[in-house]
Amino acid sequence: MARCLESEETSQLSAVFIDIGGGTTDIAVVRNGSLEGTKMFTIGGRTFSKRLASTLNISFTEAEDIKLAYSARKLERQSEKIVREAMESDAEVWLAGVAFTLSEFTNLDILPSRLLLCGGGCHLPEIKLALETKSWAKELSFPKPPSVSILAPKQIPHVKDLTRSLVDPQDITPMALANLGLEFVGEEHLMSKILKKVIRLMQI
Ligand SMILES: Nc1ncnc2c1ncn2[C@@H]1O[C@H](COP(=O)(O)OP(=O)(O)O)[C@@H](O)[C@H]1O
Ligand SMILES: [Mg+2]
Repeated sequence: MARCLESEETSQLSAVFIDIGGGTTDIAVVRNGSLEGTKMFTIGGRTFSKRLASTLNISFTEAEDIKLAYSARKLERQSEKIVREAMESDAEVWLAGVAFTLSEFTNLDILPSRLLLCGGGCHLPEIKLALETKSWAKELSFPKPPSVSILAPKQIPHVKDLTRSLVDPQDITPMALANLGLEFVGEEHLMSKILKKVIRLMQI
């Protein structure tokens, strides 16, 4: 992801990437363009749905639908309030997971104060709101209060999506992998060209 973000001087990029998937949250710290480390913890989107299922005493599938309706702001006020409260309390636990995981990057004297979110889980408004609360970051080695933004597929300009179906932050990770794949394929072409040239020269 760090290598394919639009309009970034890749060698300068410093950010904490937070990918909230279904079962895990994956955190990668990138400083001056190089990957300092990755860690993950096992709270993801499904944790929020499970909590909702038990709070409302409904099935996981129903809870998942309600969660999606909630983040699309399609619930009526009273239900929205109930769901929000459940999401807020899980987001608090999730935030503690982020703080703990970041504190485990003991090899770093400072953490990049730019947080970039992706993955399906970052649709929940409580995720970004939790990261924007001030107190948690104070305990960590951020040089200034961290900024939080959600990555969008259009920030990966090298992957041209002719299907127009890549619109979500959860598409970012696979798009970044595709981008990396394209880079490798490009290198392979270059390598084989060079090799052919070398062999021709050796034959002369
Ligand atoms: N609009 C949404 N609002 C809230 N959660 C969402 C939304 N869309 C997807 N999710 C959640 O994101 C998770 C899947 O994210 P994704 O990045 O696709 O997972 P993974 O990379 O682990 O396969 C699921 O738990 C799903 O409920
Ligand atoms: Mg994902």
